[in-house]
Amino acid sequence: MRLKIITSNPGKVREFHHALGSLGLDIEHANENCDEIQADTLEEVVLSCLAQLRFRELGDYVLDDSGLFINALGGFPGVYSSYIFRTIGMNGILKLLDNINDRSAYFECCIGCSFRGEEFVVWGRCDGSIGMHPSGTDGFGFDPIFIPSDYDETFAEMSIDKKEAISHRGRAIRELAIALEEKI
Ligand code: IMP
Repeated sequence: MRLKIITSNPGKVREFHHALGSLGLDIEHANENCDEIQADTLEEVVLSCLAQLRFRELGDYVLDDSGLFINALGGFPGVYSSYIFRTIGMNGILKLLDNINDRSAYFECCIGCSFRGEEFVVWGRCDGSIGMHPSGTDGFGFDPIFIPSDYDETFAEMSIDKKEAISHRGRAIRELAIALEEKI
């Protein structure tokens, strides 16, 4: 079965390839454009993208909207994660947490899928905390400052296998695989 992954983020493409490839799915990258609306939740963004892409005859595809939610900052950057990463970056986030004891945070991933004309959404979440400084070179985005619960290393210090086993995206992709299996 062939599935397109629609994103401009090479880090996401790599993780989708790795996770879905091992499930026997053929993944093809498509750089299709979708305007990200300003919304309060990842799901709203995903549903809007599914609606925008509905009539473009793309075949079966998935798209992913994800974000980092920091509890002491009221969930910021959340749905604005991509913009915040490009502007103030990891160091800006670390500055905002200066002198704040509660460094707990979580990543959430919302995947939208269009399969044989049917659209659905799955989610994954990974709890953890924000480290004191960036550490590690693997992964992408905020990986060097995110330490998942029960681990003492950041996502960026983990192999792709290890990150996939516990990450928000790994969890959401496993939900996706279950949903697809039921539809085949
Ligand atoms: P979007 O889903 O394209 O809106 O982007 C979400 C942003 O959140 C990305 O640009 C990253 O900065 C960050 N992000 C999402 N998932 C991850 C992840 O697995 N690791 C690190 N950062 C992530």
